[in-house]
Amino acid sequence: VTFRGVHHVGFAVTDLDEAVETYALLFGATVEHRDAVADQGVEAASVLVGASRIELLVPTGEDTPVGRFLAKRGPGMHHVAYEVDDVGSALAGLRHAGAELIDQVPRHGLFGLQVAFVHPDAVHGVLTEVVCPA
Ligand code: CO
Repeated sequence: VTFRGVHHVGFAVTDLDEAVETYALLFGATVEHRDAVADQGVEAASVLVGASRIELLVPTGEDTPVGRFLAKRGPGMHHVAYEVDDVGSALAGLRHAGAELIDQVPRHGLFGLQVAFVHPDAVHGVLTEVVCPA
C-alpha cells in the first residue's frame, strides 16, 4: 500500500463557527466541507490553508470520542490522517506490522471518506487515521 502523504490534521475545538472564523482570519483558510455525523458524535469542517487541509471537530455531546478528548485534554491537536490508495490494504499491512487498530475494517468517515483509526499507543501517542478519498 502506498502512503501518499498527510491528508489532513484534525483539531478538537469547542466552537466550530469560531474556529472556522479564526482559521479564515489568521491563515486565510477557506471552508471545503462542513458536515455533522450524528453516529460519530461530531460536527466537523474541513478547511484549506493553501494546499493543506485542517479538520476542525466539535463534539455533539460530552459522551462522544471528541467530547471525552476535550474533557480530558482540552482543545488542540486530535489526530493526523494519512492518505492511502486502499484503507483495507493499509489496515492489513498495519495489522501485519503489529500495530494496534481502533477500526478493524474501513468505515465511512466525514465528507464521504473511507477511514480507519490506528491506536495512539501504536504511533508514539498520536491518534492516526488512514483515509482514502471516495
Ligand atoms: Co480525520
